[in-house]
Amino acid sequence: MAYRGVLNADLPGGILNRNLYGHFSEHLGRCIYEGIWVGEDSEIPHTNGIRSDVVKALRQIRVPVLRWPGGCFADEYHWKDGIGPRETRKRMVNTHWGGVVENNHFGTHEFMELCRQLECEPYINGNVGSGTVQEMSEWVEYLTFGGVSPMAELRRGNGQDEAWKVSYFGVGNENWGCGGNMRPEYYADLYRRYQTYVRNYDGNVIHRIACGPNADDYNWMEVLMREAGRFMDSITLHYYTLPTGEWADKGDATGFGEEAWFHTLRRALHMDELIARHSTIMDKYDPERRVGLIVDEWGTWYNVEPGTNPGFLYQQNSIRDALVAGLTFNIFHKHSERVRMANIAQTVNVLQAVILTEGEKLLLTPTYHAFDLYKVHQDAERLPLDLEAGVYTLDGKTEIPAVSGTASRDREGRIHLSLCNLQHGSEAEVAIDLRGLETEGLTVRGTVLAGDAIDAHNTFDQPDRVAPKTFESFRLEGGGLTVTLPAMSIAALELARA
Ligand code: AHR
Repeated sequence: MAYRGVLNADLPGGILNRNLYGHFSEHLGRCIYEGIWVGEDSEIPHTNGIRSDVVKALRQIRVPVLRWPGGCFADEYHWKDGIGPRETRKRMVNTHWGGVVENNHFGTHEFMELCRQLECEPYINGNVGSGTVQEMSEWVEYLTFGGVSPMAELRRGNGQDEAWKVSYFGVGNENWGCGGNMRPEYYADLYRRYQTYVRNYDGNVIHRIACGPNADDYNWMEVLMREAGRFMDSITLHYYTLPTGEWADKGDATGFGEEAWFHTLRRALHMDELIARHSTIMDKYDPERRVGLIVDEWGTWYNVEPGTNPGFLYQQNSIRDALVAGLTFNIFHKHSERVRMANIAQTVNVLQAVILTEGEKLLLTPTYHAFDLYKVHQDAERLPLDLEAGVYTLDGKTEIPAVSGTASRDREGRIHLSLCNLQHGSEAEVAIDLRGLETEGLTVRGTVLAGDAIDAHNTFDQPDRVAPKTFESFRLEGGGLTVTLPAMSIAALELARA
């Protein structure tokens, strides 16, 4: 099928915050332990206990911000259990995630060391559900106060002389559910109280983040914005894509058919409506758009891999996940005036991970490659791309767009066009009219990520089955660019002057 589009290269659409490409790592299953932290005595190559191969891979996709320690874990986490000599740290039960022993070997110092190695911003999520105001306030003091105070001295005693810089702090997580089963009115009051003691020390300005709604809970957003909007810098939104929409049987990560493919993408596209409707409520209380919307948990959620601990949320990742990532990035770009950060759940070995590990082995998932292809948009100027996206349907009734795309201009003046073909069975020819752009002397370079089967994925035996390849199925002629996208693919095109 042939589709048309217009790229307005002379109509800037605002900066795409690099934090839209953020990550989330929780004390859950094998994300932190094994996936990131192997300890200082490990034979797996590491720097200060943190896996070197994982850090190298994450630096390649330029992870801009990392959220930690949860998730549901955050509202049961007592940060003082995770400081001091590791051998004397408390052992506790991770009640949410598999009932396993949490030895607290990865704590505040280890997380800040991880952020140092990744050169990313830390986003720390505090405990409202089972923690006190004092505990949260002291954590901020421990992290960021450079003068003389009980918490600053405690930090120094644990080997960190200088205060850290922490820009993002979340006041509770999913307080409508695992974070305390609160009503929005109650949480709004708690939020106002807790955030008062999240202090800005020594010029470290903290961006205070309120717990926002679950998916389409518009009442939660309404109440929070009305009662606490003026006390927050951002509010969160959580939305997961389940192929079936049912928690009891979510659908499998691989071995699925075209219906599961189609409905997964259809449900992922729902993010667009969620952001639009939540933004409308936010506009009512914050017409200047001072408060940001942070989608700090998003991604696919499938049945766990057979034989694995159900509490570990370990799942495979296929070309379908890469498409979910691509179309979700396109949606975040479209709403970038309001959406300032997003954090995929989760970085390693959990849910829609970008990396899977097994002992010393590591593989990069198709979602990793989607992040790699899209990183060019970080901090770039969005360019409006109007696509006549066509119709993709299985039954003639339910329809989703056949193609989805986004474009930006980076600081060096290069234009980046990212196009997704959502169709599992047909290629798509997209003819884009390049307006406001002199095409004479322009060179185009392309990369494509495509699947050779509907559930094509990487394994430890075949780690490069789904990997980016050079792409040449395009023509630049007569003021336009015509691109032929393979079925189930993401193409990244760079337009630059030679
Ligand atoms: O990402 C897994 C879990 O999903 C998080 O802990 C929680 O916040 C959400 O329900």
